[in-house]
Amino acid sequence: MSDVETRCVDVAVIGGGAAGLMCAQVAGARGLRVLVLEGANRVGKKILMSGGGRCNFTNTGTGPENFLSANPHFCKSALARYTPWHFLELVERHRIAWHEKELGQLFCDESSKLIVRMLLDECARAGVRIETQCAIARVEAADDGTFAIESRLGRTVATKLVVASGGLSIPSMGASGFGHALARQFGHALQPTRAGLVPLTLGGRHLEHLQDLSGVSLPVAATCNGRTFRNAMLLTHRGVSGPAILQISSYWQPGDALRLDLLPEHDALVLLQRWQRERPAAELRTLLAEALPKRFAQRLCEHWLDSRPMRRYTPAELRAMAETLCAWPLVASGTEGYRTAEVTLGGVDTGEVSSSSFESRRVPGLHFVGEVLDVTGWLGGYNFQWAWASGYAAGQAL
Ligand code: FDA
Repeated sequence: MSDVETRCVDVAVIGGGAAGLMCAQVAGARGLRVLVLEGANRVGKKILMSGGGRCNFTNTGTGPENFLSANPHFCKSALARYTPWHFLELVERHRIAWHEKELGQLFCDESSKLIVRMLLDECARAGVRIETQCAIARVEAADDGTFAIESRLGRTVATKLVVASGGLSIPSMGASGFGHALARQFGHALQPTRAGLVPLTLGGRHLEHLQDLSGVSLPVAATCNGRTFRNAMLLTHRGVSGPAILQISSYWQPGDALRLDLLPEHDALVLLQRWQRERPAAELRTLLAEALPKRFAQRLCEHWLDSRPMRRYTPAELRAMAETLCAWPLVASGTEGYRTAEVTLGGVDTGEVSSSSFESRRVPGLHFVGEVLDVTGWLGGYNFQWAWASGYAAGQAL
């Protein structure tokens, strides 16, 4: 490609992650000259590290209800137009073996490298040019409606600009606030950002009494601000993690009440009453250790419950204990932050972005796709589905 071509493209995509690569290949396949500018030394780093190296690339149950956004309707159109089945068709066309885990989550059998390879092959077929280690120094809009982008390539002039630079999570993987700053530069409002799908830290007596149980895992139902997620919780040396906690972390903010049902498979009161009836001489701690991890049950009995033989509880005491077990108040002190968060909540406000073309309503030719927008999915493949769907919609509209 000559210098002149290098400097003049139809579409410049900033960020070679999930959304950027999808958008680039769709636009390229439509005959547009597309250049992807990736700041890191390789594209798709988050895809590579996702799903424990197997990439949970979509979720068959994806719907608007699986996303958080100040405007819950914004994601509907793109999700309806590019569904998990469309992405699966692409995966199968590339003969990538996959399997379904629980709750509709689809993973590669072998490696997430295959998903990156697939996107790169599609980009190559569509004639997309990709430049890595290409941090952007400056972007300016010219009077003729084009965009001038300064990078190590010099000056690139693009008719359309797609911002696909992701969120703030895992800075060591290339995450930057670039997209947010660019949105601001062009007059876009931002929804406040914070870490999502992130382990919670504990303080006070919760930390003191649970810290040394790091590694213990149990099923819980975690509830906060009217949302409940049933899944595993993992105790860590700083607090709590595991899918139930990661999910609820996106709905939690400092000061919010967080309650855990520690016996989500049972009605706690019915269970305690049964124990009292059938095993009156047994101590609560012994019985709880049959229903919960033993060390966790013991710790609960030492600090939150009063363990006695079951026959010695009054009905009111049983009710109070059942309440503790099914709505255990967990006082989180904070989150582990962007260092370990899977996603960034908030971002470019969707109010001034078209939900069908992802084009800015303020600056014609400027598009935002993927996680840089104020649309954040649950844990379980939803975030990649959003990246594919928004990237596809913009790629079709450019
Ligand atoms: P993404 O972050 O993928 O890409 C943005 C790109 O822009 C990056 O390559 C970055 O280097 C580049 N960039 C940033 N600033 C730039 C600049 N100034 N100039 C040029 N380039 C720049 N989701 C899911 O659905 N299933 C899963 O299994 C997982 N697993 C998972 C594990 C871990 C550890 C993390 C951190 C995240 C996940 N996720 C996930 C979330 C998922 O990875 C995320 O939502 C998508 O990658 C978002 O796609 P984007 O393309 O929007 O951003």
